[in-house]
Parts: sequence; structure tokens; C-alpha cells
Amino acid sequence: DSRKAWSGRFNEPVSDLVKRYTASVGFDKRMAEVDIQGSLAHATMLQRAGVLTEDELRAIQSGMADILDEIRHGTFEWSLDLEDVHMNIERRLTQKIGDAGKRLHTGRSRNDQVATDIRLYLRGAIDVLIGLVHELQISLLELAEKHAATVMPGFTHLQVAQPVTFGHHMLAYVEMLGRDAERFADARRRVNRLPLGSAALAGTTFPVDRAYTAELLNFEGVCENSLDAVSDRDFAIEFTAAAALTMTHLSRLSEELVLWMSPRFGFIDIADRFCTGSSIMPQKKNPDVPELVRGKTGRVNGHLVALLTLMKGQPLAYNKDNQEDKEPLFDTVDTLTDTLRIYADMMRGVTVKPDAMAQAVKQGYATATDLADYLVKKGLPFRDAHEAVALAVRYAEEKRRDLSELQLVELQSFSPLIEADIAEVLTAEGSIAARDHIGGTAPDQVRLQISRWRQRLGV
Ligand code: ARG
Repeated sequence: DSRKAWSGRFNEPVSDLVKRYTASVGFDKRMAEVDIQGSLAHATMLQRAGVLTEDELRAIQSGMADILDEIRHGTFEWSLDLEDVHMNIERRLTQKIGDAGKRLHTGRSRNDQVATDIRLYLRGAIDVLIGLVHELQISLLELAEKHAATVMPGFTHLQVAQPVTFGHHMLAYVEMLGRDAERFADARRRVNRLPLGSAALAGTTFPVDRAYTAELLNFEGVCENSLDAVSDRDFAIEFTAAAALTMTHLSRLSEELVLWMSPRFGFIDIADRFCTGSSIMPQKKNPDVPELVRGKTGRVNGHLVALLTLMKGQPLAYNKDNQEDKEPLFDTVDTLTDTLRIYADMMRGVTVKPDAMAQAVKQGYATATDLADYLVKKGLPFRDAHEAVALAVRYAEEKRRDLSELQLVELQSFSPLIEADIAEVLTAEGSIAARDHIGGTAPDQVRLQISRWRQRLGV
């Protein structure tokens, strides 16, 4: 029987095109398990409230157990005629247990049902994602630990600026990801509220115990306005914004990996399993995975804009527009899940080339600021020091030598304040060691930061 659950008032069936256009089962069947979970909690509450009998509840429970089995084994037959996941499951339940199945929808609407499903689904997804962010952080921490003292050029404007350590650089991403995980955890608190009981929009005439349903489903509480509960998807938008930010962070790292792997930099190598070759150029090894992460960031940003746009013109309460929330949301979850997984593994496959990094530090006069700071400490005003060092860099450039490779007398021609103790100051190692405060790039600080993160993550 393919009659719609709502076809009673209609004179003609919808056309095949309309059927296909309005159906969501193709994608919302991914919420089947949480849909059943929500239905079981609703039924349990209805029985306690005296709306369902014990027998009816038991029939619903065993029918749903069978259905769950069918779904897990891939034998459940999804029907486009039944529009969405909710009606597919309800129809199957009724096929199995008869009238009790038809009573399940008492005091409920698909509007509060679907809002509940999305929240249950998203809550689970967030928990997985937070775990994956932590995994990636751990992988970055391992790399940072190995290279707590490995000198590399730090850049501004992509020009060599000052020496930093590779470990310090990796920890910058650990910090970003830490905030990402916090954002997910924070969004989760707002996801974790129960819409059920709101029914279509106004609440229900049945004596529902919403707090009890919330408890059964481990929600922190109920949505306190029925109109709001069935219609707003701000929690999904908020989640997608957090996901877009996470992708943005990974996109920045990806851009760096691509640059660093270019022979022009030659700072790193990425394990072969994350790269691909060219069908025409036999010598090529391309960093496809980071490039794709950068590309897929655009896709997630697009989902965020799609959801915001979906919401902005909707009057209260539920509108069918909201059915369009699922594909962007699901694809955001899928994209971020895969990206985080692959990234944690890929960072373990990064080989650092310290010699190339050290070479770049020298070519870029990365310790020029250290020389200026040195002169200031000897009493010269900073602006004068800046000028003296600029002249020294110009001179060194002409001689094709690094500042650390100039003779003491050569340096002294730019300022008589320069003495033998300058030698250490001008090396990259001296430069990083001198930035020995919280947040600084000194290897000891990098190690302290690693241990703070290890403690926070419990690893
Ligand atoms: N498939 C619908 C959705 O995703 C379920 C809710 C439908 N409610 C309605 N009144 N048509 O939003």
C-alpha cells in the first residue's frame, strides 16, 4: 500500500516528479537509528502517561527491534512513495504490529520528530568529531616534540621574518584545533535539547511528559518554545560554522604543506601514500591530499552559506524548506570526518628536512631583529638600531653572506657597540633560545607547551 499517510484529503496523487522532488528518504534514511531511538522514548513516555497500554508499548518495542535489524542488515526496503525516513519506518512498524504502530504518532508530528532526529544525529557526530580533532592534535604534538628545537624560518608576508622552531609552528595549529574542539563542545550544549512534545507547532493536547522523554534520550533539557523548537536550525548552522572554521585551519596548514613540499622550499616530504603522480610527467609527486583539503574547505564554507540562506526567509514555524538542511549538514560531517582522519595519519607521514630550513633562515637574514635588539640593550634607541642593522644587511647581501658570517670588525663598522658577545645572538639557535617566555619559540617553551597540551588531552 503506497498511499501517503496524509492522502485522505487529496483528490489525485502527486506526479512522479513531485514525488521525487519532495522526497527526502534518499538522504534522511541516515537518521534511521536515531529516529527509532526517538520513537521508542516517545512511546515509553506515552505509556507512562497512560496514552498507550503496556501491550502496545511492548509491541512497538519488539517491532522496532526487528526494523532496526532489517536496517542494519540492509534488508529494509526504503520506498520513495513514503517520502521520508519517518514514514518509511512508521509504515513498516504498522505492517508488523498493526494498530499499535498507528498509535505511535499520537501527540507527535514529523516536525518535532525530525528536529529531534537531527539533534540526536548531530550530537553523536559532534562527539566523534571532537575525538578526531584530539587525535590530530596528538599527531601534531608528536611532530612538535620531535622538532621542538628544529629551526625553521618564520614568515610574515611569506618573506623570511625571524627564526622559529618547527615544533612551535606545529603547536600553533594545536592551539587552533583546541579552540575548534571547544567550539564543537559549546555548540553541543545547544544541540542537546529536546524538541519532542512540540508536535506540529503549538504543542499537543495529550498529557506529554517532555522532561521524561528528554531524560530517556539524554538531552540536557527541553526546548521551551514549541514554535522555536520545530522551526529553527540555528544549532546546525552553528555547528557548520565551527566545522568551516576547522576546515579553514586545516586549509591554512594544507597551503603550507604544499609550499613546503615544493622543491623551491624543500622543507618537508609527505609520505607517498598521500600523494599522486602525473599521467604525463613521470617525475611528478603531487601533494593531492592537502590540495583537496584546501578545496573541500570551499565546499564546507558553501554549506554554511546554504544553511544561513535556507533559514533567513522562513516565517515561523516549520516550513518544508527545512528539509534542505540535511544534505549540507551531512556532507559537512562527512567531509570534516574524513579530513580529520586523513590528516592525523598524514602528519605522521611528514618528514622534516632541517638542513633546508636552516639554509632558508640564513638566506633570509632572519636574525636581523636580534642584532637590533642587541644594540638597544647596549643603549641605542630602537630606530637608530633598526637603521644600523638595515645597513649591515645591505652590506652582507652584497657579500653574499649571512650576518653570522661577518667578521666582528665588519659588524663594528655599523656600530661601535657591537662586541664579541654578538656571535651567539646572530645564530638561529641563539635567536630562538632568547625568546624564552610563555608563548615564545624557545625550545624549552615549546616543550612546556607540549606538556601542557599532553596534560589537557590526557596523553
Ligand atoms: N522530511 C521532512 C523534513 O526533513 C520531515 C518533516 C516533514 N513535515 C511536514 N510537515 N511536511 O523536514
